[in-house]
Amino acid sequence: MNEVVFVTGADHGLGYALCEKYLGLGFHVAAGKYPENSVNLAELKKVYPDRLEIISLDVSSTDSVKNAYSCFTGKFSRLDILINNAGILGDIHKTIYDEIDYDDIIRTFQVNSLGPLRMVNVFLPSLLNGSRKLIVNISSEAGSIGNCFRKNWFGYTMSKSALNMESALLQNELRDKGVRILLFHPGWMRTMMEGKLNENAPTLPEEAAERIMYHIDKFRDYKGDLPPYINNDTGEILPW
Ligand SMILES: NC(=O)c1ccc[n+]([C@@H]2O[C@H](COP(=O)([O-])OP(=O)(O)OC[C@H]3O[C@@H](n4cnc5c(N)ncnc54)[C@H](OP(=O)(O)O)[C@@H]3O)[C@@H](O)[C@H]2O)c1
Repeated sequence: MNEVVFVTGADHGLGYALCEKYLGLGFHVAAGKYPENSVNLAELKKVYPDRLEIISLDVSSTDSVKNAYSCFTGKFSRLDILINNAGILGDIHKTIYDEIDYDDIIRTFQVNSLGPLRMVNVFLPSLLNGSRKLIVNISSEAGSIGNCFRKNWFGYTMSKSALNMESALLQNELRDKGVRILLFHPGWMRTMMEGKLNENAPTLPEEAAERIMYHIDKFRDYKGDLPPYINNDTGEILPW
C-alpha cells in the first residue's frame, strides 16, 4: 500500500491544500473533517474515491479523536505522516487593560495545544507501524518567545508556544522509537483563520503546502536534539 498521511482540520485552508497535494503524489489521505458538512472534501472524494478517507474529527474532544482512530484503523494498518494542522485564532483584540475572556483562551488551547497531544496519544500505535514515523505540527511564528513582538493575542500565541514545548517533549520520548517531529510556521496565508478570507495575506495555502512538503524532504536527515522549528517562507530555523 502507498504511504498514509492524516491531516487534521482538512476542510479548507492549509489542511485542504495538503490533502490535495498528497493525493496528487499518490498517497492515501485520511482527512479530518470538523464541520458537519464539507462540500470541499466531498468534491475531492469524487476525484480520489479510493485514496481519500474523510473522517469526522474534533481535536478538542478526546471521544472524537478516539472515534476517528476507530474509523482510521478500520481502513489503515499504519500511519506514515501525522499532520496536526487544525487551529483556531481565538480573540486577538483584548489587551491586558481589558476584561480577558478566559473561556476563549481555554478553547484555543484545547484546539491548538491539546488537540495535537490527543492525536499523538491516540494515533501512536499506527504511527509506530508506519515507515516514516513523522509528526508535522503546524505551529506559527506567533509561538516564538525569542521573536515575540506582540502585546496581546494571548490564547493564540501562548497555545502555539505550548505546542512547541509539547513537540520537544514528544521528540525526547519518541526519538529512540524512530519518530521524528517537525514544527512549522507555514507563512502568512490567504485563508479563513480570521473568519473570512484574508485577502491581505501574501501566500496561497497551496503554495504553503508545497513548501511544507519540500521542507519535509529537506529536513529528512535533520539531527538536532530539538525538533526543527521551520520558517516555511525562508527555510530558516526560528528561535524558540
Ligand atoms: N493563516 C495563517 O496566516 C497562519 C499563520 C501561521 C500559522 N497558521 C496555522 O496554520 C494552520 C492552518 O490554518 P489555516 O490558515 O489553514 O486556517 P483555517 O482556514 O481556519 O483552517 C483551520 C482548519 O481547522 C479546523 N478546525 C477548527 N477547530 C477544529 C477542531 N476543534 N477540530 C478539528 N478541526 C478544527 C477548521 O474548521 P472550521 O473553519 O470549519 O471551523 C479549519 O478547517 C493552523 O494551525 C494555524 O494556526 C496559519
